[in-house]
This record gives sequence, structure tokens and C-alpha cells, in this order.
Amino acid sequence: MNQNQRLKGQTALVTGANSGIGRAIAVEFAKEGANVVINYVTNKEATEQMLDEIRSFGGIATALEADVSREDQVMAMFRQAIITFGTIDILVNNAGIQRDSAFADMSLEDWLLVLNVNLTGQFLCSREAVREFMRRGLVPERSVSLGKIICISSVHEVIPWAGHANYAASKGGIKLLMESMAQELGPHKIRVNSIAPGAIKTPINKSAWSTPEAEAKLLLLIPYGRVGEPFDIARTAVWLASDESDYVHGASVFVDGGMTLYPGFSTNG
Ligand code: BGC
Repeated sequence: MNQNQRLKGQTALVTGANSGIGRAIAVEFAKEGANVVINYVTNKEATEQMLDEIRSFGGIATALEADVSREDQVMAMFRQAIITFGTIDILVNNAGIQRDSAFADMSLEDWLLVLNVNLTGQFLCSREAVREFMRRGLVPERSVSLGKIICISSVHEVIPWAGHANYAASKGGIKLLMESMAQELGPHKIRVNSIAPGAIKTPINKSAWSTPEAEAKLLLLIPYGRVGEPFDIARTAVWLASDESDYVHGASVFVDGGMTLYPGFSTNG
């Protein structure tokens, strides 16, 4: 447990929380005193291990299975989370997948799957969270805002990505979804932001960092000279979820070791 408990008494729902970036965020939130709802869709065993880990340091968490692209499952998950913890104060839209292929070979199925999970999933979860924030009203002892939404986007909300048109389109969509929600919901004191990670060591991109050759190639894209770790994103998420960042609204916070600085131009152009 962390000393200052920046999220004490708040309830956070993190989607896709049993691996990679989502896992790190959920564990860190629990260390900061939040009640954590771990959403997952596969790998119950990993989820149980995570619950044990969180409970071992005195953290509070529960796990709920739901496919974020399914309206009925998302609504049921929010209902259950609210029964368990009373309300939700923070949503982290983290669930995301890749199904890569050359553009001419991309199947409609892979296009729709990625858009449904990565973009529609963020819409469905955000809508339920906003409904709950508005139902509950402000609780000043817990936070100065009615609720916080953090969208996990990607550097690919601005960097085009050959061979990943579905993924880049989903992340570009998240950018304007987040900004439109921020514009509309700010007056209700709902704070909406994105984190745009660069290359972070998780299962989604293992082939890009798991051998020395692959890592060396990846590092050419990262001016700061190291591949990110899930904790780099988790600590940014804690800050964005806490009142410390209360005036940050409608922002994409790039946590990418400088990947968006177009390092190719440092020796050319
Ligand atoms: C992708 C990773 C990739 C990173 C940087 C992320 O959004 O999921 O596969 O390594 O962007 O390109």
C-alpha cells in the first residue's frame, strides 16, 4: 500500500485488466486505496492470481467477466459493480486488441472485431459510467469531480500504421470520442482524458521487444532509449485519476519515450 492513498475510498473499473497495461493500472489503483473492479474476458486463472496479489497487500478488488463490445454484458457488469461497491468514480477504458494484416488482405471480420472492442467498447463503458456519475452526484469527500474517465489510446491515434489500419483507425476514433466526451461532459464536472502509450512491454507486442534484435530495431523509434514498462502507464493513470490533475481535461497524455517526436528526422529530412 502506498502511504498517501491518492484514490482512497474511490471505486475504479478497469477494462481488460488481467494482463499488460490494464493489470498494472488495476494493481497500482488498489495500492492507492481504490476499490478495483477487474474486468476481463478470458483467462480466469490469471484474474484469480491478480485478486490474490491485491488482497495480499490489503487491497480491495473484485473481478467481473464481460466482453466490452457487447452492450448487454457491459450493462450487466456496471450493475454488478455498483451492487458490490455502491458506485463507480473512475473508469479506465483499457481493453484493446490487434488483428494485423496487409490492407488488401484485411477481412471484414478483423476490421469489425478491432473496431468493436477498441472503440465501441470505450463508448459502451463510458456511457454506463457517465450515467452512474450523474445518478450518484458529487461526493466532495472523495473527489472534486463527479467522475473521471481515462481512455487508453496509443501513439497510433496520431501516427499512421501500415499493416494495422483497423487498429490505427480505432485509436484515431478514440481521440475524437474522448475529446467530444470531454467537451460535452466537462460542464457536468466529469473529467475525460486519454493516455497514449508508445511501445510498452506487454503481450500485445511481444514480438517487437522479446529478442535483442527486435528490441534494437524498436529502439530506433524511441528517442529516450528504452522500451516502456506497464508501470510507466500505471503511474500516469493514478495521477490522471486523482485530483492532482484536476485541471487536465480533454488531453491526450503521450507516455511514449518520445516516439511521437518522429526520430527518423534526427538524421534525415
Ligand atoms: C501497439 C503496440 C506498439 C505500440 C507502438 C501500441 O498501441 O499496441 O503493438 O508496439 O503501439 O507502435
